[in-house]
Amino acid sequence: MVFVMKVDRFDEDVAVARLAEIVALECGMDQTAAKRLRIAAALHDIGKRKIPAAIITKPSKLTTREFEIMKTHTALGAQMLGCVHGEMNELAASCCRYHHEWWDGSQSYWGLRAEELPAYIRIVSLCDVYIALIAKRPYKEVWPRKDAADYIKKMAGKQFDPALAEIFIPLVSDGPRIRKPAEYPANCIHAVKRR
Ligand SMILES: [Fe+2]
Repeated sequence: MVFVMKVDRFDEDVAVARLAEIVALECGMDQTAAKRLRIAAALHDIGKRKIPAAIITKPSKLTTREFEIMKTHTALGAQMLGCVHGEMNELAASCCRYHHEWWDGSQSYWGLRAEELPAYIRIVSLCDVYIALIAKRPYKEVWPRKDAADYIKKMAGKQFDPALAEIFIPLVSDGPRIRKPAEYPANCIHAVKRR
């Protein structure tokens, strides 16, 4: 049994959040922290609410100018959430701001790379891309899960933390049944091992 979820445009954020919680638990995050990450991850794209609908729903490739506007959803989301102080808001604002950073920094919006990015951001980034690939978008069809998993594998070490990708792939590929969040022990021992 594997992680299987039908995703449409409106529940993508929830799908990212649910998957992020599962991946966080698999990486050894405790249940309370993983649940907090799920809530924060659900808000990672909230800044898109401030992007013109003509760009969000455009059925073809964005122009350079449109893409630059789209990129601002990271800052807009962080601003929307950052105006209220509190640990939860700061976590969510950070997910907004940094979820498009790349592990090797080559395409990072904010210039961060590797372990400059907290582990929870690396989790949200990877889950966000995976869910986007298996979802239908105005400009693309649904990717088969295997192709999406292959993309994650191919981009490990470039776009994604390679150690995290190694943990992630079995969760979305044929293999042992994935556990529900409640089935994880309070202190899961499968920590992400750094090389
Ligand atoms: Fe985004």
